[in-house]
Amino acid sequence: MNTFHRGRRLRSSRALRELVRESRLNRDDLIQPYFVVESDPDFRKPIASMPGQFQLGLNQLMEEVGGAVDAGLKSLILFGIPVQKDPAGSQAYDENGIVQQAIRRIKDRWPELIVVADTCLCEYTSHGHCGLVSPEGEVRNDPTLALLARTALAQARAGADIIAPSDMMDGRVAAIREALDEEGFLHTPIMSYAVKYSSAFYGPFRDAAESAPKFGDRKTYQMDPANWREGLREAAADVEEGADILMVKPGLPYLDVIRLIRDNFDLPVAAYQVSGEYSQIKAAAQLGWIDETAVALESLIAFKRAGADLILSYFTQDLLKAGHV
Ligand code: PBG
Repeated sequence: MNTFHRGRRLRSSRALRELVRESRLNRDDLIQPYFVVESDPDFRKPIASMPGQFQLGLNQLMEEVGGAVDAGLKSLILFGIPVQKDPAGSQAYDENGIVQQAIRRIKDRWPELIVVADTCLCEYTSHGHCGLVSPEGEVRNDPTLALLARTALAQARAGADIIAPSDMMDGRVAAIREALDEEGFLHTPIMSYAVKYSSAFYGPFRDAAESAPKFGDRKTYQMDPANWREGLREAAADVEEGADILMVKPGLPYLDVIRLIRDNFDLPVAAYQVSGEYSQIKAAAQLGWIDETAVALESLIAFKRAGADLILSYFTQDLLKAGHV
């Protein structure tokens, strides 16, 4: 008997391939990011470095989300672009900050939609760093924690379903958990950007969110791309502090890390297909060099194969609208 065709026999028809498929992409696992602008509710501007993505005023955001919800969107994450930035990032934790306003509007209209709030100061600080900065230009970890906790509280009060700290300050998950619990938000989960690398793949996002640091870089608080054991330590610290979901970011260049976190922790694992990953697919597709949808779907299934439970991707709403998920 010829045993060499075992694999091939299972690939001989579409139905067989689907029967034995090991990973699946599901609309329930996908989170679409949106950039919401405070200046004007009717603002709508394409993000040049992220074709298909927009900076949106509140009214425009509601329209965009509405279209995606009609196509089956289950979850989104919000990033805010305030009118005023200051050294302490005060619009991040203002009760009337743009993200808080957007959460209220969205939850009012679509109570079932899962709204994730990115918790960070970099979009709100005049210097563009994720925390307070000393006169010497150093990011000050501990004094930043209280501000992140205030931001998370303002987001939870507005109705956020998940708090997602992306700042990489040490101890922020514990600080946020304590603040949430004290105010009775016992059931609001924290999705921590636990293993977040200092990555050049965030370039287009920093255009989109107008959050590029004005001096220096984020290497003192984000991780070195060369390291994986450090990722285990970062994730373990966040678990200890009370994280409910662990995120790895960026995605495709760090599939090994996704697998590592999957195998070493029993919490849900999220992967963020970041702006640079999105834009390089878009750019190559615009040049006619690759098939955009096929490459997007192949990248996303790779996250699932590597062990991700949920995925943040800018392709989400387009894939939904085209019926691919
Ligand atoms: C904020 C934040 C960043 C991203 C998500 N949250 C940028 C950064 O750390 O500089 C990047 C997302 C993307 O590139 O799509 N700290």
